[in-house]
Amino acid sequence: MTKKYLVFNWKMSPSSAEEALELLEVIKEAISQEARPSNPFSKIIVLPPCLYLYLMNQIINADKVLAKKITLGAQDVFWHNRWAVTGGISPKMLKNAGARYVLIGHSERQQYFKETAYMINQKIKAALVNNLIPIICVGEKEKRDVDSFLVKKCIFEQLNNNLAGIKLNAGDTFIIAYEPIWAISSHNQGQGQPESLDDINKMIGLIRFWVARRFSENIASKMPILYGGSVTGANINLFAQSSVADGVLVGRASTKKQELKKIFQKLKRTNKKFT
Ligand code: PGA
Repeated sequence: MTKKYLVFNWKMSPSSAEEALELLEVIKEAISQEARPSNPFSKIIVLPPCLYLYLMNQIINADKVLAKKITLGAQDVFWHNRWAVTGGISPKMLKNAGARYVLIGHSERQQYFKETAYMINQKIKAALVNNLIPIICVGEKEKRDVDSFLVKKCIFEQLNNNLAGIKLNAGDTFIIAYEPIWAISSHNQGQGQPESLDDINKMIGLIRFWVARRFSENIASKMPILYGGSVTGANINLFAQSSVADGVLVGRASTKKQELKKIFQKLKRTNKKFT
């Protein structure tokens, strides 16, 4: 089984650095007790609020278990290193604080900050130039038949616009997260339902097809394409077993200690079944 990405998007949580370190401790405990062979998710990427990045990076680097398994990323970036932008965080700042990845174009940024395709495109370019690995989000607003032309059109339009003018080389890492907006917990008062595995597989196939056409078959076959939207301890096994999704992006459930524990417990059990 190929190893998968487990990405935790902590959004605007938790409220203090101390609590962020407690969440990190939960992850550490879980990965220290990992069953062998280790769970199917080998790459754990944590995207904390950028205020905690520097501290978390120090703690992770000082700890062998954490440093081996966890990589940090940010939830957003501005597209220039030197402009006067009040409140902005530059790619260089993120890198210097320990981020290796950056999430770009999340639906909540589009909703609350009115991010446009132009802005998303600038951010992706800035991330690549500054050696940050972009994790870009695409997904349709409303639940529709995934075989419908409208869904295809919507996803292809987002990819065409967000990635306009972007060049990738064979060795570049670039991650796409397929996140149907209707499935994200924040758009459902915390009670969202994930998309069905069949539909996720179809949509990821569609995105991979677009990548192959736009870049190359080689890039498409290596590009990690993840699923995000109401992934929890209760359903993570489903995605761990998908041969199509290269991992998951977990929001809400990764910000609650008990849910986070459950995620790792469930993965451990899945693992036992597979071995
Ligand atoms: P959720 O969020 O897991 O809370 O649905 C996923 C995301 O928004 O990235």
